[in-house]
Amino acid sequence: MTKATLIIPAAGSGSRLNRETPKPFLEISGKTILEHTILRFLGLESLGQVVVATSPLYLNKAEEILNSVLPEHILFHVIEGGAERQHSIFNTLKFVDDGNLAIVHDAVRPFVELKHIENCCKAAMQTGASVLGVPAKDTIKKIDKDQMILDTPSRSFLWQAQTPQVFKKEILQEAYQKAFEENFIGTDDASLVERLGHPVKMVEGDRSNFKITYPLDLKLAKLLLSS
Ligand code: C5P
Repeated sequence: MTKATLIIPAAGSGSRLNRETPKPFLEISGKTILEHTILRFLGLESLGQVVVATSPLYLNKAEEILNSVLPEHILFHVIEGGAERQHSIFNTLKFVDDGNLAIVHDAVRPFVELKHIENCCKAAMQTGASVLGVPAKDTIKKIDKDQMILDTPSRSFLWQAQTPQVFKKEILQEAYQKAFEENFIGTDDASLVERLGHPVKMVEGDRSNFKITYPLDLKLAKLLLSS
């Protein structure tokens, strides 16, 4: 069976939450958000490796967390992230074994469901690349720099991309290398793969897999994790 490597970018700051502690290391119900997130992947049979990118101050803490939650047969590396999420992930890629599926998942999405992770892995095995997402629920407007509306794309073809985003390792590696050489920064991993002209499959997930970004998200996460 193809092995999978879980890549977790956890090197962001807590700036949008106005907190000093970076989001993945905030505790909810006695566990850090990073821990809650990793626990969601332990039921994935093919999981063989975990690589977490974090800021230098939290390397030890992340290592402690991985030591305590991962069973012995799952190898892990904790490495230093970069200034942007994309740099953090680029740094992890040399730790992913060849032939493995690379599953990229934000540290701050602790509500992802196993069935959705599995569906993304299946789709990536078939097409090389997949993304979990949901249909856009609001109408999305394209604006210019003065906040004047330029366009209203049809909502029926607009989806919000979440993570996991799952790739055959070689495809993700090539996409990151090209972006690095061309100084391109994208807001997700799939956008780098799309630039290769490689197809990416959208897999339907659900809205509970939100990213803890703003104070309201943290309130909701606390409610959900304590109930
Ligand atoms: O802040 P943002 O929404 O981009 O964060 C998504 C994920 O990427 C978070 O888990 C965050 O810790 C991580 N990240 C990172 N390195 C950065 C910025 C964000 O690993 N430089």
